Amino acid sequence: MEIKRRYRPLIAGLSAVRKVDGPRSVLSVIGNKKCACVALCYGILISQAIKWQGIRYVYSYLHNEMKIALLGYGKMGHEIEKVAIDRGHEIVATIDNDEEWASKAAALRTADVAIDFSTPATAVGNIDRCFALHLPVVVGTTGWYDQLDAKIRECEEKGESLFVASNFSIGVNILFDLNRRLAKLMNRYGNYSGSITETHHIHKLDAPSGTAISLAKGIVGNIDRLAGWELDEGKAIPQEKLPIKAIREGEVPGIHEVAYDSEVDTIRIYHSAKSRKGFAVGAVIAAEYLKGKKGYHTMEEMMD
Ligand SMILES: NC(=O)c1ccc[n+]([C@@H]2O[C@H](COP(=O)([O-])OP(=O)(O)OC[C@H]3O[C@@H](n4cnc5c(N)ncnc54)[C@H](O)[C@@H]3O)[C@@H](O)[C@H]2O)c1
Repeated sequence: MEIKRRYRPLIAGLSAVRKVDGPRSVLSVIGNKKCACVALCYGILISQAIKWQGIRYVYSYLHNEMKIALLGYGKMGHEIEKVAIDRGHEIVATIDNDEEWASKAAALRTADVAIDFSTPATAVGNIDRCFALHLPVVVGTTGWYDQLDAKIRECEEKGESLFVASNFSIGVNILFDLNRRLAKLMNRYGNYSGSITETHHIHKLDAPSGTAISLAKGIVGNIDRLAGWELDEGKAIPQEKLPIKAIREGEVPGIHEVAYDSEVDTIRIYHSAKSRKGFAVGAVIAAEYLKGKKGYHTMEEMMD
């Protein structure tokens, strides 16, 4: 349709030439200078239009422009929309409840990738739907990680594309790295006891946060005297368990702190998000990274 509309002026120009000169030879048409000029100008304009269209396709290919479906159109969904558009992508569908999976099915089929920031109760169902549509999916939703291993296996077996991160902020992923290195060091010093404290806004559904759990895995996996983590709810916690305290207050986007305490001092590493933008930028970069890849992918791999 687009091309046809573009050709309309040329067709009109050529008809004008034909009207002036009647059904004579092409040479006689060119002989009519005025009409030949009009046809030539239209020809140049059309070839330029086609060239620019071509350049636009090449540009969008090189710049990895994508059609994105947002699964979960709450606080993070809206933030991701802004970042994705700023980076030249298109949002083709926003799904904010189960019903919209059916009503927006046609738009969903045009997506290159989906980004899920929904709820702990809906994330796994959304991943299943993406697998069924062969739609690569980036998942930021936390609170469903008891099923993560099963979903990774399913993704690999079915040849689908999945990217999961408990925290898409580049700063937090630097903290993850520091946390693992510090834990390796602290493995040698039994007189320090570790703990994690996380603070989030009052609307957060899961506790402790997925980020705190990732930090805990980085510590427990590197300190031999620890055998797991436990949510600190005020009761006594066994020595071999790493306590995680979860605080919910105001509209805090996310604060995480790892502390090692001894009789004589305290060592702390700390990250405080100033807004949700850092998570949104990381999630969109992850979607760009996932394009064209199969299997399971992580921030650690992407940032390596
Ligand atoms: N990984 C990260 O970097 C990161 C950062 C921030 C938040 N999060 C997590 O992302 C999730 C969303 O956070 P938020 O602050 O945007 O929450 P939110 O409550 O503002 O938004 C969640 C949205 O999901 C919608 N929803 C419900 N059922 C759905 C379904 N079946 N399909 C699609 N959407 C559905 C809800 O209507 C709601 O609008 C939470 O689990 C949060 O912990 C992760």
